[in-house]
Amino acid sequence: VNALIQGASRGIGLALCRRLLAHPEVERVFATTRRPEGCNELGELARESGGRLVPLALDVEDEASIENAATNVGAEVDRLHLLYNVAGLLHDGSQVQPEKKLEQVDPAAMARLFAVNSTGPLLVAKHFWPLLAHDQRAVLANMSARVGSIGDNRMGGWYGYRASKAAQNMVTRNLSIELGRRAPNAIVVALHPGTVDTGLSKPFQRNVPAGKLFGADDAAGKLLAVIDGLTEADTGGYFDWAGEPIVW
Ligand SMILES: NC(=O)c1ccc[n+]([C@@H]2O[C@H](COP(=O)([O-])OP(=O)(O)OC[C@H]3O[C@@H](n4cnc5c(N)ncnc54)[C@H](OP(=O)(O)O)[C@@H]3O)[C@@H](O)[C@H]2O)c1
Repeated sequence: VNALIQGASRGIGLALCRRLLAHPEVERVFATTRRPEGCNELGELARESGGRLVPLALDVEDEASIENAATNVGAEVDRLHLLYNVAGLLHDGSQVQPEKKLEQVDPAAMARLFAVNSTGPLLVAKHFWPLLAHDQRAVLANMSARVGSIGDNRMGGWYGYRASKAAQNMVTRNLSIELGRRAPNAIVVALHPGTVDTGLSKPFQRNVPAGKLFGADDAAGKLLAVIDGLTEADTGGYFDWAGEPIVW
């Protein structure tokens, strides 16, 4: 079994790599980040893995880097069984901050959020889908968020992040239809990891009820269990960490 975790430098992506390496049937884990050379934890994991974990450079805002990563992966394996788009952006400490009111809406921040959260997974699918077109079970998972649900939105706020994840959800559904023809063994899903203790959620953890903040390792375990349980009938679906469907 070969997996690729896109966005593996920290948070949930790094935890997914650790969990995957613990499975003896997993032969290769390709782990992407914008700067593999600056990634100590991933580098250490690669060294410990005896060649099973392969760090690669990929920036979802730079299509050439995606194409290059796909070429490199294709040179090493002829198929992937899991492709997980994990990379995502909520805040960047400067220009991008979740909006609390209309006055805070900024077109440049919106564009950045869409580039990373919506266009990013689509470009990764554009270049990697041939590695999912084979006769074994494969899963293409895109990391969504419950706040990307339109039907579930009761609180408002966070215009850019919510809209970019809603757009990603449409990308996921569209991919499930096209890959249904071109890579029919691939199950394509949007997944919500729960609220997870990472750099992304750090500034917003105060209002999280006790017991509702998962550790990254815990979340990774739950997500991999959901992925293991997916069937063909689930393609095109939107699920949370417990495998429960989320309203679009
Ligand atoms: N944490 C939560 O509570 C929560 C809840 C719902 C959904 N999510 C979603 O879960 C995913 C992972 O979140 P996390 O909490 O683990 O976040 P995190 O710790 O902030 O990690 C974000 C990851 O995204 C990568 N990334 C950011 N911009 C990128 C770009 N332009 N190109 C390539 N990679 C980029 C980062 O890699 P580098 O900077 O090393 O390149 C890093 O690996 C995200 O999609 C997030 O929206 C998280």
